Amino acid sequence: MELPFAESWKIKMVEPIRKSTRKEREQWLKEANYNVFQLSADKVYIDLLTDSGTGSMSQGQWAAMMMGDESYAGASSFHNLKNAIKNITGFEYVIPTHQGRAAENVLFSYLVKPGDIIPGNSHFDTTKGHIESRKAIALDCTIEEAKQTQLEIPFKGNVDPKKLEKALEEHADKIPFIIVTITNNTSGGQPVSMQNLREVREIADKYNKPVLFDSARFAENAYFIKVREKGYEDKTIKEIVKEMFSYADGMTMSAKKDAIVNMGGFIATRKKDWFDGAKNFCIVFEGYLTYGGMNGRDMNALAVGLDENTEFEMLETRIKQVEYLASKLDEYGIAYQRPAGGHGIYVDAHSVFPNVPKEEFPAQTLTVELYLEAGIRGCEIGYILADRDPVTRENRFGGLDLVRLAIPRRVYTNNHMDVIAAALKNCKDRADSIKRGVKIAEEAELMRHFTVKLERL
Ligand code: F0G
Repeated sequence: MELPFAESWKIKMVEPIRKSTRKEREQWLKEANYNVFQLSADKVYIDLLTDSGTGSMSQGQWAAMMMGDESYAGASSFHNLKNAIKNITGFEYVIPTHQGRAAENVLFSYLVKPGDIIPGNSHFDTTKGHIESRKAIALDCTIEEAKQTQLEIPFKGNVDPKKLEKALEEHADKIPFIIVTITNNTSGGQPVSMQNLREVREIADKYNKPVLFDSARFAENAYFIKVREKGYEDKTIKEIVKEMFSYADGMTMSAKKDAIVNMGGFIATRKKDWFDGAKNFCIVFEGYLTYGGMNGRDMNALAVGLDENTEFEMLETRIKQVEYLASKLDEYGIAYQRPAGGHGIYVDAHSVFPNVPKEEFPAQTLTVELYLEAGIRGCEIGYILADRDPVTRENRFGGLDLVRLAIPRRVYTNNHMDVIAAALKNCKDRADSIKRGVKIAEEAELMRHFTVKLERL
């Protein structure tokens, strides 16, 4: 008999989580104005709000924390971090920052000017924010197929080379660099193929433009290349990662994802002019160049996390758990962005609650029902998050209306996945009686999803 698949780690420390009654949850969610961001975390049973900073560190990382060097300048922990980054990515110059958006802030302060255009594949919210707040444009060049949730293709996060080339033909003088997000979070944690990274490099070279990778989930991307792309099946993750970064000039990193630390990030580059240009912004915004907003112990843990999580078994355990949840949803007929992404499942709210009109926010309604059903906290990535059109002030109903179930790394077991799937099935089974959704009572002008107050209809 073939042995079943199981985790490549065992559990040494546990954190109790609390179940609650439906009655309690009804009260708590009402007090939170039906916005799960406003819930205190101890009222959540399974927390799928994000996979960012929510992973479990390894014994190697905890041991490294004890060896943290907290010197203001020149700490050994910084050298550990710099060496780990250089070994894994090949990049010479490193600027530590407290998280991913801080890396964007520091580097874009140097690179992005008003009127610039930065083409890429579905820029993440903060990336877009750091571009738009500098009066520049984030131009989305993702492949069209990414919009079809039910289409099953291996590299749904890819850049469309034709769209990219067109942007460069028309606006080369306004484009300071190209950005590629690996994996593509916004399109559902979908990977970018090596071939696509190579194509982007070729186009960039033709126009003499640098390429930046937004690398939060680069290791998961490498896993998908190994298991899905011809020619990479026998390569190690570390070899694949090296080749991926050979097509970039630099990276911004939110280490809270694939380096499995609770806080941390960095910029790494082979371009001395980027390093020289960005370093003063690091000192102003983050801290001195050898700590940039991080403790010595955190840099040590980050260095170990990068090394450990670029090993196949660690990534296989993680992605197989996400796929396990997806297979359960298939069994229950619940539609999600296909194929299952690296860090989570994006459930199509309309497939669960077809009777809730879009004006009453089906994905937010599902987020509410999922919490009431089982204390599970997902995250609406839909019509509320889309904010209003800045000119007409109308809600934007043009995009997808999804609930993201982001799976923290090494935190929950497949028994938890079973609970999540069953809770979604119960919501779907009640769909006939769920005809009304929620209404906005109070909202901020921008990024309203964090603070919006809702009423249940
Ligand atoms: N880039 C990508 C692709 C991200 O997913 C994130 C964060 C960032 C940059 C910013 O990094 O949070 O460390 O400042 N994504 C989190 C999420 C918040 O839930 O997907 P950060």
